[in-house]
Amino acid sequence: MLKNFHDGLATASCMTSQKVTWQKVASLDVLRDGEAIGIDIAGTTIALFRLGDEVHATSGICSHEFGVLADGFIEPADGTVECPLHQALFDIRTGKAQCAPATADLNVYPVRIDGSDILIDAACVQRANEATLATTAAPAAAREPAAVPGLAGAGHGRIQNANPASDGAATFTRQYVWPDDDLSVIPDWVYTDKLVYDREVERIFHGRTWNYVALEAELPSTGDFIRSNVGPTPVVVARAADGSINVFENRCMHRAAEFCRELSGTAKEFICPYHQWTYDLRGNLIGIPFRRGIGGKGGMPADFKLQDHNLRRLNVTSHRGVVFASYADEIESFADYLGPEVLREFEATFDGRKLNVLGHYRHSLPGNWKLYHENLKDPYHATLLHTFLVTFGLLVAGNRSLMLTDGSGRHGVMASAKSDAKSVSGDAKKEMRNFQEGFTLREPRLMDYVEEFDSPWSVTMATIWPNLILQREMNTLGIRQIVPTGPHEFIMKWTMFGFEGDDEAMTRHRLRQGNLMGPAGFLGLEDNEAIKFVQDGMQRVPGGKHLVKLDPQTPAGTTDTLISEAAIRAMYRHWRHEMGL
Ligand code: FES
Ligand SMILES: [Fe+2]
Repeated sequence: MLKNFHDGLATASCMTSQKVTWQKVASLDVLRDGEAIGIDIAGTTIALFRLGDEVHATSGICSHEFGVLADGFIEPADGTVECPLHQALFDIRTGKAQCAPATADLNVYPVRIDGSDILIDAACVQRANEATLATTAAPAAAREPAAVPGLAGAGHGRIQNANPASDGAATFTRQYVWPDDDLSVIPDWVYTDKLVYDREVERIFHGRTWNYVALEAELPSTGDFIRSNVGPTPVVVARAADGSINVFENRCMHRAAEFCRELSGTAKEFICPYHQWTYDLRGNLIGIPFRRGIGGKGGMPADFKLQDHNLRRLNVTSHRGVVFASYADEIESFADYLGPEVLREFEATFDGRKLNVLGHYRHSLPGNWKLYHENLKDPYHATLLHTFLVTFGLLVAGNRSLMLTDGSGRHGVMASAKSDAKSVSGDAKKEMRNFQEGFTLREPRLMDYVEEFDSPWSVTMATIWPNLILQREMNTLGIRQIVPTGPHEFIMKWTMFGFEGDDEAMTRHRLRQGNLMGPAGFLGLEDNEAIKFVQDGMQRVPGGKHLVKLDPQTPAGTTDTLISEAAIRAMYRHWRHEMGL
């Protein structure tokens, strides 16, 4: 006979005289002896434990950090649970913390068993939650903030993703708590968690953002197409007979085949290789083989209409020959999206001259996609990591420089004016271990700078949220398109370009200088390694957080010192807003 545990176990906020609202939360069939499940009551995570014929309910999150207690180690003989993150120990029956690093006892909640149903007093959970939130002295990590509402189902030992929101959004039933609500400390789950990544795809890449997809110069004529991506989602960018540029998903409406197989080319129409469903250059379904069957048998239903099965099309805009797509129909113009200051830098590079594509690279990087944005919002590393950069004076502490962000914090431009290495001060050299006195180049033309832009900066790296890096490194010009493939990896697609009026010597110069960047560039390769090292550190030492505290005088946003992480903080202010975290 299973016992009910609601007498005498209530927390201070759950006195028996107060209102009781029993709510069914799980079935006994799924809660085996010596195990736990996580459930969610109106945004509060609860752990349900079974100890023989007893069922107990406590707060689901460790009072130390955000360890999920239903994933913890239960010792039925002692009636304790050990947090899986840092081994804080709690008494399951009383919620009492048994040892550090627990910072407080757990709330315990009244439980009732009715047949095979497990019920919890939801009113008590709500009161306890309100009391905790109102306790300003409580450490932030011990709080249980509102998460995505929804009553959880059940599963052994881990929190289940039950009751997905009706709009298809990924539902969070774990708690994600930003440490102390402080932008200068970033928790690792931002980079390593699959649920966080899934929500990024929904809310950022498929949300109200303009995503780079192609250069118009790659599609000069009717029928020209190129495969691209919006986030991880494959799309086709095609120029139709009316001159319009169309972006649609590379996913057949019949059986979902990724129908466009060539990276780029020229087509009259797109024919899916599986069953030859055929689409025009705007993504409209225009033909189905054997639609009426054969000899009166088979075929599609009589009421099947081609026009109801066009490919999913995205909103498209083009600015100075650069094409962007969005899943959002209601979104500001591209100029408003960038804001005036970032737009000015964008237009300094895309200055109206027609583009000439010089070539492509692509490679994968074993890290979270946001680390690439951060790398280019982190001028601090540039002066320290890159031997080539500091030795040849491309970016040196003390150079005239600017780390610009837009008002939202999502976009950035790292800008600097090239100096002569001779001008590097003795003090700066001492701090820069990678400065190599006396290194020279056999091919000094590599570092020539031909002034061609209306800009005080010889180098600008623009990070256009969420998937575009625009590189103007003296005269080598490139697009980098981020294609995330999961929390731990992304693909980088590079498109190097010059301008139609370039003579042979200028094109050679751009190509020569292109050796600075790319998968194995004199500068690029060190960044690629650094991103891997950061991801490795986060994955292999779980449950951590790390620091972006430099330049506290600039809380988040534009700064004119290189020794700053204010632009990274600005990006996370925006990210948290978009993600609701
Ligand atoms: S999957 Fe494309 S035609 Fe069948
Ligand atoms: Fe770098």
